[in-house]
Amino acid sequence: MMHYCWGYFSTSCSRNWKCGSAFARGILRLSLLFDSQENVAMASLRLIGTGHLASAVRAQWALRGAQEAAPQAKPIQTQRRIASLTVAAVSASAVSRRRSSRRQDLVTLRAVATEAPPDTIRFRETVGPAISVSETSAEEWTGDTLVLLLPGEGDDNIPILSTVAKSIDEALGGAIGSYIKEESFEAKAGAAAMFPVFGKAVKRVVLVGLGDKEPSREAGAAIGGAIKRLKGGSVGVAHAEGVEAQALVEGLLLGLHADKRFQGTKTPEKDKAPKGPEKVEMLGYSSAEDIEKAGAIAAGVVFARELVNAPANIVDPLNLTAAAADMAQRLGLSSKILDEKECEAMGMGSFLAVSRASNLGARLIHLTYSPGGEVKRKLGIVGKGLTFDSGGYNLKGAGSMIELMKFDMGGSASTLGAAAAIAQLKPKDVEVHFVIATCENMVSGNSGALRPGDIITAMDGTTIEVNNTDAEGRLTLADALLYCQQQGVTEVIDIATLTGACMVALGKDITGMWSNSDELAASLDAASKSTDEKLWRMPLEDGYFEGLKSDFADMKNTGPRFGGAITAALFLQKFIQKEVNWAHLDIAGPAWAEKAKGIYGVGGTGAMVRTLTNFACKA
Ligand code: BES
Ligand code: MN
Ligand code: ZN
Repeated sequence: MMHYCWGYFSTSCSRNWKCGSAFARGILRLSLLFDSQENVAMASLRLIGTGHLASAVRAQWALRGAQEAAPQAKPIQTQRRIASLTVAAVSASAVSRRRSSRRQDLVTLRAVATEAPPDTIRFRETVGPAISVSETSAEEWTGDTLVLLLPGEGDDNIPILSTVAKSIDEALGGAIGSYIKEESFEAKAGAAAMFPVFGKAVKRVVLVGLGDKEPSREAGAAIGGAIKRLKGGSVGVAHAEGVEAQALVEGLLLGLHADKRFQGTKTPEKDKAPKGPEKVEMLGYSSAEDIEKAGAIAAGVVFARELVNAPANIVDPLNLTAAAADMAQRLGLSSKILDEKECEAMGMGSFLAVSRASNLGARLIHLTYSPGGEVKRKLGIVGKGLTFDSGGYNLKGAGSMIELMKFDMGGSASTLGAAAAIAQLKPKDVEVHFVIATCENMVSGNSGALRPGDIITAMDGTTIEVNNTDAEGRLTLADALLYCQQQGVTEVIDIATLTGACMVALGKDITGMWSNSDELAASLDAASKSTDEKLWRMPLEDGYFEGLKSDFADMKNTGPRFGGAITAALFLQKFIQKEVNWAHLDIAGPAWAEKAKGIYGVGGTGAMVRTLTNFACKA
């Protein structure tokens, strides 16, 4: 497990060196390798300095002390999940040791401290009840609640009972047949009913309709919806042999998810406790791997949903960073966090301009998944991470959904959800870089705040006239995309709650996709089909770039009202290298559900977590 700790150094030498340099300043990177006990097993240091080399070398000497000291470093405190602070302390003491012996070195370290995130937004590796596979057949199973999946025939979806279902019905004294008949149960897809049976091997039965479909996320959500009412106990799902259960279990876990984190002390504990059974057994099913996959994906989706649901006074740029770093550390992803100074040093003027009115700071989060063995594909996923979007001086007014704008980090939430799932599924051959530029878009009396009309400069030197401060997402994404491409990725996908216009075009349920590569677009489309997420490719209409031309800068950030989702995509494309395959996903609609339906509850959906994960994991 590797961690990077970034800090600054400056040295001053009182002695005259041959070339007479007195100062060196720069950034240092301390890479730390941890053993399984979370002790620092190895440390190495890189200095990127300005000023005279001799001084930089002296700083390096001083910091070698830190390196020597690192193996003795105390185990990382659990409340400080990233080693930065501990390391900073170690380094500082090593440095002062040097200073007393050499006198002339003054090295200051300011590590980026990443504290533990608030508990409410910590990644949870398991969500919902424990799910296992069981060799016991549905007929032999004894427990609390037995779930049967019933295909429906014809327009009325008349339930069809398999041989297994018939023999269960017999064992239950014909309870299933009677229920279907008396209550006219129709086995249409998504239908579910629960009823008790008395004095038998099971206490109650849940019937779930499949219609003419295979068991899917929808059926899983129907099971979830039905068993939500249970208070503990066991559930056995009679699963048709040979039918894959991953989608069903994903649906079950996601359908069961309810977000009670912010209910206060006035809500009775029993209403806050997670609902549903204690355990679920997939009867007569043997692939534990399918179930594990479903669990990892559901955990990623729930992480994304909960990050989105948490308000902006909890998910702020620093807490989002902390939640990301904490998840990364626990799942074995490497992480690197850049603060404003480091972003500034890298020239991210476009990103930082957006954050300037906020007093909460900005961070660039970079997590990396590395497969064991050879890397054949390098993929980048870049998420928009606005923890709140007020619009800035182009303040959002009535009807602008400003009260929803905590959700404007939906792209980064989905990026982190996918990172968590990918870290657990461990696909071979592919290295994945997850990049998030996170900040708030606020208004401020501070004259450093971005004004409409300001001209800012992105990392590649492009100048941008900001004719609308509410088109801020693309400004942050420009630098994040440039940074991500510096990592040598050949494919990059960005995901963002980018435009209201995309919602106007495609409605609430469909993600807009723009791509410079037919092949990438086709693979993403294919990946989305098996995950039940909808996306639709939109045009990169070159001619519309006309609307982004500026009289003073290289381009403006906002085009005319019509085609607003397209000009946003064209803006982003200016930051994509020709040889890089790129896709842009606008999830302004799908990131948030206004009504509970199927696997979705009201609120954050974890849009595209499943599709991105599936895409990254494809061979
Ligand atoms: N975060 C919003 C996009 C958004 C707005 C999503 C409303 C969902 C609902 C984005 O930063 C934004 O404000 N976009 C502007 C762009 C415009 C100023 C060109 C928009 O869509 O109105
Ligand atoms: Mn905006
Ligand atoms: Zn926004």
